[in-house]
Amino acid sequence: MTKYVINGGKPLYGTVPISGAKNAAVAIIPATLLVDGVCRIENIPQISDVTLILNILQELGADVRTVDRTTVDIDCTHIHNAKVPDELARKIRASYYLIGALLGRFGSAQVPPPGGCDLGARPIDQHIKGFAAMGADVDVRGGYIHAKARNGRLTGTQVYMDMVSVGATMNVMLAATLANGLTIIENAAKEPHIVDLANFLNSMGADIMGAGTDVIKIRGVDRLVGGAYSIIPDQIEAGTYMAAVSATGGEVLIKNVIPKHLECITAKLEEMGVEIEDRDDAVLVRSNGKLTRTNVKTLPYPGFPTDMQPQIAADLCLAQGTSVLTEGVWDNRYRYVDEFRRMGAQIQVDGKVAVIEGVEHLTGAKLRACDLRAGAAMVIAALAAHGTSEISNIHHIERGYEDIVRKLSNIGADIRVVVTPDEDQQTEANAG
Ligand code: EPU
Repeated sequence: MTKYVINGGKPLYGTVPISGAKNAAVAIIPATLLVDGVCRIENIPQISDVTLILNILQELGADVRTVDRTTVDIDCTHIHNAKVPDELARKIRASYYLIGALLGRFGSAQVPPPGGCDLGARPIDQHIKGFAAMGADVDVRGGYIHAKARNGRLTGTQVYMDMVSVGATMNVMLAATLANGLTIIENAAKEPHIVDLANFLNSMGADIMGAGTDVIKIRGVDRLVGGAYSIIPDQIEAGTYMAAVSATGGEVLIKNVIPKHLECITAKLEEMGVEIEDRDDAVLVRSNGKLTRTNVKTLPYPGFPTDMQPQIAADLCLAQGTSVLTEGVWDNRYRYVDEFRRMGAQIQVDGKVAVIEGVEHLTGAKLRACDLRAGAAMVIAALAAHGTSEISNIHHIERGYEDIVRKLSNIGADIRVVVTPDEDQQTEANAG
């Protein structure tokens, strides 16, 4: 078993470079299925979710070549297979993007139901509603989602999303790019990775307008052609380091970011007494480690991101006073709370609301990462805690954070990877 061992209580100083955005990469890589010719994708994060989705494309028959550490060339021109292999796809949430991309390219797709972090119910009814409105028959049989365009090619139409969904918005965009006519997505999600996917597709010849607003218009084109595209920086990775410095104290320049994407996080940390200075493509975070209480509610972008909820909770555990944290996106994103309590945190959860009474300090403990962001939050809590913590199940963390141990060590954290004989089987699925 591989664990992180962290000796807490050390302030962080220096510079951290942020990698490409996971949730943009896992959509843009499947989007290359729509393109004739070679797509050069730059600023790819080196994380296990990206490796998985690249492996799935390879199994479908794509030619995937690594150019350098953060660049790959993907050529899907010669794929003739719209059936996604079972084993890999079930390990990752983002495999649902293969439905939209394959349906757009071939007029049919067979994809296993997606995996994903256990955050409560994660239905994909809005994705299916969009495909059906565009003329696809979608049903589940034999453990597969089968989607088929009745006329061989999808037809543009108006799709109203019943709730704001990142995945459904991107999936309908993928399906609509090569469809006949105009598709209008209403009540669309506005996350930075939605805009990134639209920019990628437009740079390859698509006609998409309005990404980043709640109405996106996609005029179908006959063909996309290869080119080069660089993925945006990861908002959540940057926010995680911001939360870490806030908790430990210190001064860290978080670079290769888009400060505008971080405003929702910056605003909350400033309320808690952290100093944040925006630079052109960096933010400087300065904290004396003394935080004050605030209330946080997670919402779709530009609200406070749900994917930062566990990390800000780690900060609130150390903030003076009582904070109220409300999860506005997922049904069950407080599974980490028991682990925090083992460190001395005072948290009461009732449904989607957590009431956190700040404590003077947390104490190191043996912790088990239960999902990606919860695992990152445990790293933050352990960095700030008195004493030593051990975090197991770190494969969750490595799904979404490139080189986290080296990046943290470089700014003064005492964190190391320890491999011990297996205490228990790591049977939990990878997710997304
Ligand atoms: N929802 C439905 N029906 C649908 C789709 C969504 O009811 O058809 C509900 C969900 O149950 C949830 C809400 O709508 O309550 C929002 O879900 P959304 O579709 O936006 O989430 P997702 O696309 O499955 C992505 C990220 C998540 C992130 C959410 C919200 C990827 C691969 N995953 O999930 O990221 O939490 O958007 O921003 O992009 C993570 O990175 O740790 C992570 C979990």
